[in-house]
Amino acid sequence: MPVKIMDIPAVRLEAPATATAPALALRPWREADAPALVAVYRDDDALRRWTSPGPQDEPAAVRWVRGQQQGWEAGQRYAFAVVEEDGRAPGGTLVGHAVLKPEAGSAEVGYWTAAHARGRGVAPRALQALTDWAFTAFTADEVPRLDLMHRIDNTASCRVADKCGYLFAEVMPAAPPAFPRDGHRHVRVRDGSEGAGRAPGPRA
Ligand SMILES: CC(C)(COP(=O)(O)OP(=O)(O)OC[C@H]1O[C@@H](n2cnc3c(N)ncnc32)[C@H](O)[C@@H]1OP(=O)(O)O)[C@@H](O)C(=O)NCCC(=O)NCCS
Repeated sequence: MPVKIMDIPAVRLEAPATATAPALALRPWREADAPALVAVYRDDDALRRWTSPGPQDEPAAVRWVRGQQQGWEAGQRYAFAVVEEDGRAPGGTLVGHAVLKPEAGSAEVGYWTAAHARGRGVAPRALQALTDWAFTAFTADEVPRLDLMHRIDNTASCRVADKCGYLFAEVMPAAPPAFPRDGHRHVRVRDGSEGAGRAPGPRA
């Protein structure tokens, strides 16, 4: 899927505040995020358990960010830092990650939330913003549907899928060593498409 975004650093998505949580901004990762990224991965068993290994030090984090930037330029993955613009850190306080990964005939979404920000709807609000963007920035031919995959025992991620209208599609059998347990595939289709589920909107 080719990049159509001329000014990648300027891409910015927003999720409004809730009664209990501040607004979110989603923007491409920057090298300046490296220290916060290392801090997020430090001592977080949930991230270790449910996601690919993350950077453990700043040089590795800078390399990771550069990889995301190359992903944007190549049109292979569109990764966003999710931040709360609360004035506590330049560029916002890092609270999560959301990514769109195009594939032939579909695209996959992924996400995580920093441990200190879990339980206040960061992931569903970020995923809803990413979903709206994916169905706006890309054509129905490029992104006819969005797939969301999680391990069967990751109930928190299953809740995020449900809150954002990603309907359960199938159980995927385990494929060790990369996928040691069965997984769920959830699907969101474009509103108005055949098979569209209930009206979208995070219910966090
Ligand atoms: C899954 C994850 C992204 C959810 O993010 P979030 O921003 O906390 O999302 P929500 O606030 O909507 O919470 C979702 C569920 O997490 C659980 N949860 C709530 N508070 C929590 C907390 N403080 N800590 C951990 N999990 C919590 C609840 O089951 C909640 O569902 P509920 O709203 O029905 O009670 C987050 O737990 C995470 O980053 N986990 C590790 C990485 C991961 O699993 N990524 C997804 C891979 S497929």
